Amino acid sequence: MQNTYNKIGHVEILNEYLANLKVLNNNLYNLHFNVIGEHFFTLHKKLDDYYNKAAEMYDAVAERIKMLDQYPITSLTEYEEKSTIKSMRSQDFTTKQVYSVLINDFSFMLAFSKELEEYASGINDHVTSSLMSDNINFFEKELWMLTASNK
Ligand SMILES: [Fe+2]
Repeated sequence: MQNTYNKIGHVEILNEYLANLKVLNNNLYNLHFNVIGEHFFTLHKKLDDYYNKAAEMYDAVAERIKMLDQYPITSLTEYEEKSTIKSMRSQDFTTKQVYSVLINDFSFMLAFSKELEEYASGINDHVTSSLMSDNINFFEKELWMLTASNK
């Protein structure tokens, strides 16, 4: 069966998703370095898990773009331009602020993953839709736990 979808348009969305993962990864480092307060040790360690997970997702999406015979964005300037999640300057982050950034950025990534999952399923790109299903699982689970911890 032939792929009937517009591969270029599809890759543009994947690249936009990739850009958001890159900026998210960077923001997670920022929080990891700059978190302050009594929960420092717990959050510092948790953020270590999160930026590793974001880097893993980033790699998988870039490789998916290569499988579609296109180029993943690698320019930092282009990441900034294409990402909806905006990069943050270094500052102190209290526990509340860390939770707020995480919940915001993860909620955005969850919504984007769902959108891309639906789109990819609709054009029979099962590899992308399966990648997105994994990401949806991750973001939904973490958002449940972050929201519970933040009450
Ligand atoms: Fe570290």
